[in-house]
Amino acid sequence: MVKVLDGKALAARYTDQLRGLTSALSRPPGLAVVLVGEDPASQVYVRRKGQVAEKLGFVHRQIDLPASASEAEILAVVDQLNGDSTIDGILVQLPLPKHVSTIRVMDRIAPEKDADGFTAVSSGKLSQGRPETIACTPLGVMKLLEESGVKLDGLDAVVIGRSNIVGRPMAQLLEQANCTVTVAHSRSRNIEAVVRRSEVVVAAVGRPEFVRGEWIREGAVVIDVGMNRLADGRLVGDVEYEPAAQRASAITPVPGGVGPMTIAMLMNNTYEAAVRRQG
Ligand code: GUN
Repeated sequence: MVKVLDGKALAARYTDQLRGLTSALSRPPGLAVVLVGEDPASQVYVRRKGQVAEKLGFVHRQIDLPASASEAEILAVVDQLNGDSTIDGILVQLPLPKHVSTIRVMDRIAPEKDADGFTAVSSGKLSQGRPETIACTPLGVMKLLEESGVKLDGLDAVVIGRSNIVGRPMAQLLEQANCTVTVAHSRSRNIEAVVRRSEVVVAAVGRPEFVRGEWIREGAVVIDVGMNRLADGRLVGDVEYEPAAQRASAITPVPGGVGPMTIAMLMNNTYEAAVRRQG
């Protein structure tokens, strides 16, 4: 029988725990979220992050800028938040408009306030195996894998996708957990063959049901980071869920799998930044 990894329930356990820890601080953690433009998906994510932050008793600020905002304007907002003593965690929602350099904006965030783990300092520390702030989605996936009860040591894992947000840090974390990791991406020649031999499959492709259920190795653990809205309104992941669930030993649903864990880990990162800053 497949184990459905309930990210919603696990995230609720994390946030309950964080609420208790937060009440013991001398001042609440502060999270600032910067949203540039009107991308509907980003608006939904940002709203959700704000709701959870407020539920936890965090100080929460959302800064909305128009899609036409210049890079200099965005950098000025980041500078202001870097200097704001009530703010412990800063998140600039991605993607940014095309005329803005994501790298320059990320690198303007003070590393000690990096809630997303996207600055060069955070990602460099992770790649050296001495992580401080880990990107929220890969961190949430590691917690879900722990929840699955699988012992990662020595397993063959595939990460499909090589973004700085998910794929790359995900592969590093799995490698640091002693998996043998293959990173597959849009230029990979035979993703099916790699998936067929993998005991852990993390799909972060952004293409609906890209991973066919029949590719899944019997007993594999399947983590679906995808979130795709189909023309008929259905929300599906990057994995063909039903046939994959018949072969997997554990699988994350969409929605209710990885998504809620990403938000819980953002709160975790903000809390930890607050503790570090409060000494
Ligand atoms: N866009 C998609 N996922 C994320 C995330 O985890 N953080 C930020 N800042 N932007 C995103």
